[in-house]
Amino acid sequence: MEQVSEQYYKRDFWIQENLNYVKPHFRLQKAARIVNAIAQGRQADLLDVGCGPATLKHLIGENINYHGVDIAIHNPAPYLLQTDFVETTIRFGDKQFDIIIAQGVFEYIGEHQSDKFSEIQQLLKKNGIFILSYVNFNHLHRDVYRIYNNVQSFDNFRRSLERFFHIDRFFPTSHHWHHHEPNRKFMKHIQMHINMNIPILSPLLAVEYFFICSRPRT
Ligand SMILES: C[S@@+](CC[C@H](N)C(=O)[O-])C[C@H]1O[C@@H](n2cnc3c(N)ncnc32)[C@H](O)[C@@H]1O
Repeated sequence: MEQVSEQYYKRDFWIQENLNYVKPHFRLQKAARIVNAIAQGRQADLLDVGCGPATLKHLIGENINYHGVDIAIHNPAPYLLQTDFVETTIRFGDKQFDIIIAQGVFEYIGEHQSDKFSEIQQLLKKNGIFILSYVNFNHLHRDVYRIYNNVQSFDNFRRSLERFFHIDRFFPTSHHWHHHEPNRKFMKHIQMHINMNIPILSPLLAVEYFFICSRPRT
């Protein structure tokens, strides 16, 4: 069994680490496609939780009013807020959002997962959509990054999410035998367009999952 971190990494770590996320990686590009499809060209306020260098802003339509929060903001801007969401509530002033996205973030949230789901639920407008990614720790050849501090099975994560949101859809970000994003042009192209669960294969080879959620139905 691999080591899972018990530590929370802070700004001095992330300000360096986030340089890896300046160039749009595969999951981020796919997330941008999903955001644009959900907004359908309409005006929408979006919050990017754990936005890193805010690369997503440059991949989405101008109809989407982008906001980002992160512990390590590189280039301050009115639409970015530097905040440690382990120490404080997730929010951006008193704004509410049509779309909230958190990708590559819940693996670093430690024991605060439920609190953060609850805070995000409060920030969603009535018909708002919450998009998140989470690593498939059931992968056949699972690879656990040493600094993850929140590692659990797909089923546990899904059950926890369902306590706060209605899960409209979930599907793999990509499939890969070696538990990393596709790196060949052809595979990237195909997998960019596949948003479905493949029986037997996906639970074993999905790299991460996207969950598309709405406010709970009463
Ligand atoms: C793996 S990166 C993902 C960045 C971006 N969402 C993407 O997918 O390219 C995780 C992000 O979470 C941020 N983060 C980690 N811990 C945080 C905390 N306690 N408070 C705020 N942001 C945090 C990091 O600075 C980093 O930008």
